[in-house]
Amino acid sequence: MADNEVKYGLAGVVADDTAISKVMPDINSLTYRGYKVQDLATKCRFEEVAYLIWNGDLPTQTQLDTLNVVERKERGLSRDLHDVMAKFSSHAHPMDTLRTAISFLGQEDPTTDDSTPGGLYKKSVRMYAKIPEIVAADFRRRNGKAPIAPDPDLDFSENFFHMCFGEVPKPEIIKCFDISMTLYAEHSFNASTFTARTIASSTSDIYSAVTGAVGSLKGPLHGGANEAVMHMLTEVGDPDNARDWMLTALKEKRKIMGFGHRVYRSGDSRVPTMTDAYKKMVDVIDTEEAQKYWEISRILDETMVGEKGIYPNLDFPAGPSYYLMGFEIPMFTPIFVISRITGWTAHVMEQLASNKLVRPLSNYVGAPQRDVVDIASREEKK
Ligand code: COA
Repeated sequence: MADNEVKYGLAGVVADDTAISKVMPDINSLTYRGYKVQDLATKCRFEEVAYLIWNGDLPTQTQLDTLNVVERKERGLSRDLHDVMAKFSSHAHPMDTLRTAISFLGQEDPTTDDSTPGGLYKKSVRMYAKIPEIVAADFRRRNGKAPIAPDPDLDFSENFFHMCFGEVPKPEIIKCFDISMTLYAEHSFNASTFTARTIASSTSDIYSAVTGAVGSLKGPLHGGANEAVMHMLTEVGDPDNARDWMLTALKEKRKIMGFGHRVYRSGDSRVPTMTDAYKKMVDVIDTEEAQKYWEISRILDETMVGEKGIYPNLDFPAGPSYYLMGFEIPMFTPIFVISRITGWTAHVMEQLASNKLVRPLSNYVGAPQRDVVDIASREEKK
C-alpha cells in the first residue's frame, strides 16, 4: 500500500505478531494456541482453556489443580469494593459499573505497576477470579438483594450461577454457559483487545489496559451486540412475525444485530457450536418461552442468510442463551468480559514481552496553516 493510503478502521492492516489465536476466515476456522475452538469448547472446561490461553499449552491435571487453587484463593472482593459498589447509580449500565470496579481493583493492588511476567500472570488470575463476583454482586444490588459469597467447592461456571441466583442449574445449562465462555475467550486483534494492547504499549499497568478494553467492548458494534440481539428477539415477539420483521428491517436498511463480521464473510466459526449448545439447553428447559425464542432465532437466521447472504456471529446464539439462563439483558456484555479477560490479559503479556509503542500516523484534512490574530480582530463564523 502507498505510504499515505488511509486504511479506515484499520481494515486489512496487520498490526503485530501474535501466538495466541488465529482467525482463518477462508476456511471458517478459529484456533487458540493451535487448537480448534470447537474442540476446546466441547472437550475442555473453561478453566483449561484459560490456562491454555495464558500458558500456550493445555494443562496437565496438576497444572489445572494449581490454577484452580489460586483462582479460588483470589475469589472474594474487599469490603471497600463492596462499599463502593453499593454507591453505584441505580441507572448505570452494568458495563459502566464493571469498568469502575475493575479500575478500583487496580488502585487497591499495592503491586499494580509490577509488569514482570510473574506479576502480570498473578493480576490476570486475580481479575479472572474476581470479575464474576463483581458482575453477580452488581446484578443482585440492582435487584435490591445482598451479594452471595463465592463457594470454593464450585467450579468457575457453577460458582457464577451460585453468586447470581443462590443455586446451580442443570448440567446442560452449565455446559452451555461454559461453552460460551470458551467461545468468547479470545479473538485476535478485535477492537477491545487492540485497545488493551495499545494501552499496555505505553507501559501502563494491566488494570488500565483491561479498564480501557471494557469501555471498547461495551459498544453495540462489538460486545454490546449480544444484548441488542435479545432486544431484537423480544421486539419480534412471535415466530409468526419473524420473517416479515426481518424483511421489513432489511427494506428499511436497518443494521441487524448479531449478523455480519469484519473478518468472517461466510460465517463465524464459533456459531455452530454455540447454536448447538443453545438448542440442547432449549430442549432441557422445554418451556413455551424457550421454544419460542429458538424458533424466532431460527427464522431470522434463515431469512437473513437467504435474503442477504450475511451470516450470524457468536452474539446471535449467545444472547438468547444467556436470557434463557435467567440473566438480565444488560448483563450479557459483562458476562462476555468474564470470559474475554483471559484473552485481553494474554495479549497484554504478549505485547509487553516484545513491546513497541502503538502510534499510527494520521492523514490531516483540517484547515491549512494560518496565523493567530488578536482576539479583538477575530470574526465569528456564520
Ligand atoms: N445488518 C444489515 N446489513 C449488514 C450487516 C447487518 N448486521 N452487517 C453488514 N451489513 C451490510 C452493510 O450494510 C454493507 O452493505 P452495503 O455494502 O450495501 O453498504 C455490507 O453488509 C458490508 O458490511 P460492512 O459494513 O462493510 O461490514 P463491516 O466489516 O464494516 O462491519 C460489523 C462489521 C460487525 C460492524 C457489522 O456487520 C455490524 O454492524 N453487525 C451488527 C453488529 C454486530 O452483530 N456486531 C458484533 C460483531 S461480532
